[in-house]
Amino acid sequence: MLNLDDRVKRYKVVGDVRTVLVIDDDEALRLLIHNILEPDYLVFDAADANGALEQIVASDFDAILLDHHLGGRSGLDLLVELREDRKVDSAIIFMTSDTSRDLATQAFRENADDFIGKPINRQLFKYAVSEALKKRDTQRQLQQAVAKAEIDEMKNLIIALASRELHTPLIPLIGLSSALYKQNEADTLDKDVLSDGLKRIAEAARQLNEIIGDILEVAAMNKGAQPLQREDTNLRTLIEGLRLEFRDAAEDKGLRLFVTMPDGGHSLFVDGKRLVQAMRFIVDNAIKFTEFGTVEIGLSYGVDDVVFFVSDTGAGIVPEYTARLFESFEKVDMKSGMSPGLGVGLYLCRRIVETMLGGTIEVESTFGRGSRFQIRIPKPPPA
Ligand SMILES: Nc1ncnc2c1ncn2[C@@H]1O[C@H](COP(=O)(O)OP(=O)(O)OP(=O)(O)O)[C@@H](O)[C@H]1O
Ligand SMILES: [Mg+2]
Repeated sequence: MLNLDDRVKRYKVVGDVRTVLVIDDDEALRLLIHNILEPDYLVFDAADANGALEQIVASDFDAILLDHHLGGRSGLDLLVELREDRKVDSAIIFMTSDTSRDLATQAFRENADDFIGKPINRQLFKYAVSEALKKRDTQRQLQQAVAKAEIDEMKNLIIALASRELHTPLIPLIGLSSALYKQNEADTLDKDVLSDGLKRIAEAARQLNEIIGDILEVAAMNKGAQPLQREDTNLRTLIEGLRLEFRDAAEDKGLRLFVTMPDGGHSLFVDGKRLVQAMRFIVDNAIKFTEFGTVEIGLSYGVDDVVFFVSDTGAGIVPEYTARLFESFEKVDMKSGMSPGLGVGLYLCRRIVETMLGGTIEVESTFGRGSRFQIRIPKPPPA
């Protein structure tokens, strides 16, 4: 077998050659696969799951050939980790001498592209690899087309809604500041009028800033994922921080804002900044859509996950609407444009929770009585 550097050099000449990683503890089989696939493919190999993961983290393979019996760990288990946790979108072909239907069904269920029984047949094997690659290429093209269409649609929506929303706070900003200026010039400016005017200008400027922030956030998210910063995060501090951040807003509306947490210190290995960002959207909504009563922020523990929740005694949401709630630019009162905001908060929140934190978000609501939003974040498996 050539060493890695030699192979890369050799294939650089060929140009756009596809890369394949073979994960199998049987050295003879690895050699055989090299022999079958080279020189049409650039083949790398690993004898176990750890060796494979190191290579997968370092480079993006077009196809992965995965043996089920890997010594310490089963191929199926590794398949789940690759697809679910590491979001690997290479073509994955599952290989095993155990050709039971059950195993094949499980492999397909976990998103394997093909299933090959051992001993392998040269011709069929080569054909299977090329077909799996074609299938993945089609899927990738489709995803790119959908993403592009979504971005185009998103751009139009951003322009339409931004122009509408930006107007609302701009009108008092322009009107009030010029009125105050004129009164000041004419020496007729009353101190109370000035103070009230400045307060309203500051509020309008804050609203503008929030809308611009939302637009930038949507744009940034549609560009691609930002790196995660996972660390041991103190959840008590995180929830308390949220309460302090929203204390004045709740007080201004006469709402009681309180925290519910089980006793003791709580820590979770998570990107705390992103989690706070996601929670902010739902606390902000709870206060915005509640006129009387309470807003509760809290956490509880499930077997495999930590549940962060925000409950309110506010307007509630009609059941027909709950399915669309997390889509971008959706507002119940879209037509009347009654409440401030672009209608992107919950969309951004879901994107953060699902794509960055690997969690889920759900809502329970009774129209006229209140709502409860829950973010579930899986606990990392014990080391
Ligand atoms: N706690 C809640 N109670 C009642 N209705 C809610 C609640 N949270 C969200 N909604 C409804 O869901 C819609 C979408 O919420 P979302 O946070 O996405 O947008 P928004 O708050 O209107 O605007 P933005 O968050 O962009 O400032 C809201 O307009 C509102 O109709
Ligand atoms: Mg909102």
